[in-house]
Amino acid sequence: MTKPLEGIKIIDFTHVQAGPACTQLLAWFGADVIKVERPGSGDVTRNQLRDIPDADALYFTMLNSNKKSLTLDTKKPEGKEVLEKLIRESDVLVENFGPGALDRMGFSWERLNELNPKMIVASVKGFSDGHHYDDLKVYENVAQCAGGAASTTGFWDGPPTISAAALGDSNTGMHLAIGILTALLGRDKTGKGQKVAVSMQDSVLNLCRVKLRDQQRLERVGYLEEYPQYPHGEFSDVVPRGGNAGGGGQPGWVLKCKGWETDPNAYIYFTIQGHAWEPICKALGKPEWIDDPAYKTAEARQPHIFEIFGTIEAWLADKTKFEAVDILRKFDIPCAPVLTMKELANDPSLRASGTIVEVPHKKRGSYLTVGSPIKFSDMKPEVTASPLLGEHTDEVLTSLGYSKQDIFNLREVKAI
Ligand code: COA
Repeated sequence: MTKPLEGIKIIDFTHVQAGPACTQLLAWFGADVIKVERPGSGDVTRNQLRDIPDADALYFTMLNSNKKSLTLDTKKPEGKEVLEKLIRESDVLVENFGPGALDRMGFSWERLNELNPKMIVASVKGFSDGHHYDDLKVYENVAQCAGGAASTTGFWDGPPTISAAALGDSNTGMHLAIGILTALLGRDKTGKGQKVAVSMQDSVLNLCRVKLRDQQRLERVGYLEEYPQYPHGEFSDVVPRGGNAGGGGQPGWVLKCKGWETDPNAYIYFTIQGHAWEPICKALGKPEWIDDPAYKTAEARQPHIFEIFGTIEAWLADKTKFEAVDILRKFDIPCAPVLTMKELANDPSLRASGTIVEVPHKKRGSYLTVGSPIKFSDMKPEVTASPLLGEHTDEVLTSLGYSKQDIFNLREVKAI
């Protein structure tokens, strides 16, 4: 089966998570992704949080599948020469070095554009170009704080809280992938490459869009009726942390199920959709609430929403999270069990859909990873193992026209 991005050659000058997540996605869809790594060490995640001595860490293998690895010291003149050759025949270069690193290496946007005017140069940085923090190096949690996620996540009586989801890293990588694909389509029309830049702060903020909505509502009316602070608590002039409240017009909360005393994940998320009030009352065995003026409308329910959640928890007390969802789904109530990583890893539906995949690896044996979350009718992205450090160095150099002797010489000067 021909994959849509077959024939697109990508220089993957990325490390850690944000950049690698982007290029991995493009590799799944058929791009020829060549990861350029420093000889001897490579991407720092190869060594981070290792669970098997001498084998690439899962942090690396789970973000670099379907790629080739070329070791190249791009600070040495011999390494720069190889990189220039590669640039001349590639479609995209992706990087997420600290601010200015690519320029210091001698590969500014102007230089890259001169070497290959058709090439798309895609970058992740912590902050956007020209931002007053644009000199900062940034990791995931820094981005979550800078992008509005931390100040709006957690409980009102606790500190700003970081989400476990990689809002700063993988999310930024996904934004960058959209930018690259857009620039490739643009190039089909203009014949020209361009620079695509995504900042981690902007990408986090993009996902916090509804919180900016809430800031403006708060400034206009002084309260936010879907937050637990309403109507009994106080609002300041900034969007508060709302705990587990629903972010839209549908109140919801994480509710205890059977076994919560010993199992920290024996919970479901329960949503009270306005038009589903009648089925909710029926499911709970509370038909008298259907027409009771104290419960009938969303406005009437809100002042005592936690009393309602308490009643639902009492109903849940003798049901496991799975039993509860099996009953509630029949009443069309939006809900789900709080699933652990262990449960997700073993979920037969996720295995069948290719969202959780087991990948054989030369050194590790097999490992689990998250496959493509995007499904196509004409293509099933196949996940293959991440490359060993420098596994494809000879292959890539040969394809660039280097002879065995040239490759030997490059090795002698430690450029590869
Ligand atoms: N050959 C020779 N040198 C290489 C090389 C290679 N193949 N690959 C990288 N390098 C050099 C770079 O030129 C740079 O050198 P310089 O600082 O002397 O100019 C250095 O290695 C890498 O620097 P940097 O990217 O700043 O690494 P770091 O470990 O200090 O910082 C980050 C890591 C993630 C904080 C930083 O890269 C960053 O802020 N990136 C942008 C935002 C981002 O993507 N963050 C998180 C990602 S999950």
